Amino acid sequence: MIGGGYVGLVSGACLAAFGTDVTIIEHDPARLDRLKAGTMPIYEPGLEELVTKQRQAGRLAFSDDLTAALRKSKAVFIAVGTPTRRGSGHADLSYVHAAARAIATHAPDGLLIVTKSTVPVGTGRQVASIVREARPELTLHIASNPEFLREGHAIMDFMKPDRVVIGLEDWPDAPSTARTLLEDLYAPLNRPESRLLFMGLESAELTKYAANAFLAMKVTFANEMADLCEATGGQITDVTRGMGLDPRIGPHFLTPGPGYGGSCFPKDTQALATSARQAGTPTQLVETTIAANEARKRRLAERILALAGDDITSCTIAVLGLTFKAHTDDMRQAPSLTILPLLHEAGATLRVHDPQGMDTARTLLPDGIIYAETPLQAAEGADMLLVLTEWPSFAALTPAHLASHMRGRLILDCRQIWQKEDWQDAGFDYHCLGMGRTRPHPCP
Ligand code: UDX
Repeated sequence: MIGGGYVGLVSGACLAAFGTDVTIIEHDPARLDRLKAGTMPIYEPGLEELVTKQRQAGRLAFSDDLTAALRKSKAVFIAVGTPTRRGSGHADLSYVHAAARAIATHAPDGLLIVTKSTVPVGTGRQVASIVREARPELTLHIASNPEFLREGHAIMDFMKPDRVVIGLEDWPDAPSTARTLLEDLYAPLNRPESRLLFMGLESAELTKYAANAFLAMKVTFANEMADLCEATGGQITDVTRGMGLDPRIGPHFLTPGPGYGGSCFPKDTQALATSARQAGTPTQLVETTIAANEARKRRLAERILALAGDDITSCTIAVLGLTFKAHTDDMRQAPSLTILPLLHEAGATLRVHDPQGMDTARTLLPDGIIYAETPLQAAEGADMLLVLTEWPSFAALTPAHLASHMRGRLILDCRQIWQKEDWQDAGFDYHCLGMGRTRPHPCP
C-alpha cells in the first residue's frame, strides 16, 4: 500500500483484518516514525485500535522500503494524495505518477497494480503506460479500485460496503488473474453474496467522481430547499422526509448545513467539472453546485451578521464546530474557514470550540479568535451561539446549560441538532436552517 495517509492507512489496516499481509509504504520520515510508534497521524474512530491489533497479529507493517515490499507482493495499491492543482481545478497527479515510476523500477512479474487514490478518468491508462514503457518485458495487471470511505465512519464503510467498485483493463475480456486476486483480497465481503462490481477502468474512475458529485448536488439541493422553506414557512425536516421516503430519492444526504466541505466533495466536483469540460461535455449541474456551495458559506456569514444586529463590534459569538463535519479533525474546506474570517473582519468577538479540530484551526483562522476547551467555556458571556457541526456533545447541551453561561439568547443552529420548541420555551431566540418562517410569504 503506497501512502500512509487517510485512505492508505484505513485500507491497509482493513485488508490486513481480512487476512492479507500488508506493508504500508510511507516516504515522509516523520509520519513513518509516528506510525511505527503506534500514533495515528489522523483522527479516525477505531483506527488506532485496528492498526495495533493487525500489527500485533503480524499482518500489518510500516516501511519506506518499496523494493523489499514489492519483492514479496502480488499486488500493490497506490493510495497517495491527489490535491487540486492551484487555480486550475485539475487533480495534481504528480504523486500518482511518481508511485507508478517507483513501482515500475521494482515490479516483479505478474504484479497487480491497483489505483485507490481518487483520480480523473484516464489515469489508470497513464499508470499502465508508465509501468509498461519502463518494463516491457513484464506481464503487469492494472486495476482501479476507488474508495467510498466517509471520514468518521471509514472502518465501517470499508468492512461493510454497499459495493466495491473495481475497474479492470480490457474488461470484459480481461485475463482472470487480476479479477481472481481481487476476489481473494475482498473474500470476507463476498458472503452471503458478492459486493464486488467489476467494470472497465474508465467506468470505475468515473463512478467515484459521479457518486461524490451526485451527493454534493443532493446536499446542495437540500440547502436550497431549506432556504425556500425559511422564506415560505415550510419545515425542511418534513419536506426531506416526504421526499426521502420515495425510494427513487432516498433519505440520506438531505440534511441542510452550512455548505459541504472536506477533502473529497470540493476536490472531486472540481475535478469532474474540469474533466468534463476537457472532454467537450460540460457538466452544468456540477458547475452550478460548486458555485452555489461557495456562495452559501458567504451568505451564511452575512445572515449571522444581520442576526447579530447593528453593533457587531460589541457582539460576542460562540461557535461550536470548526471542522467540515463532526467526528473528524479535518479542517479541509470547512465552512468555518470562510464564515469565521468574515465575522472576525466585521469586528465580532469569536469564542470557538471543536472536539478535534482546534490545533489545525489555530493555524488557519485569523489571530484574535478565542479557543475554548469546552462548549460551555465557548458560550461564556456570548450574545449569540452558532452551531456549525453536529457533534453529539453539542446536541447534549440543554437550554439550562447555555442560559447559565450566555449573556444573550440568540442561537443559529446550522445542523438541526436541537428541537426548536425546547429552546423557544426556555426563552431563546432560536433559529435553525430550514425551519420556520423568517419573513412572510408574499401573497400570490
Ligand atoms: C465523502 C463521501 O461520502 C465518501 O463516500 C467519499 O469517498 C469521500 O467523500 P466525507 O468527505 O468523509 O465522505 O464526508 P460526508 O460524510 O460524505 O459529508 C460531506 C459533506 O457534506 C460534509 O461537509 C457534510 O457536513 C455535508 N453533508 C452531508 C451535509 O451538509 N448534509 C448531509 O445530509 C450530508
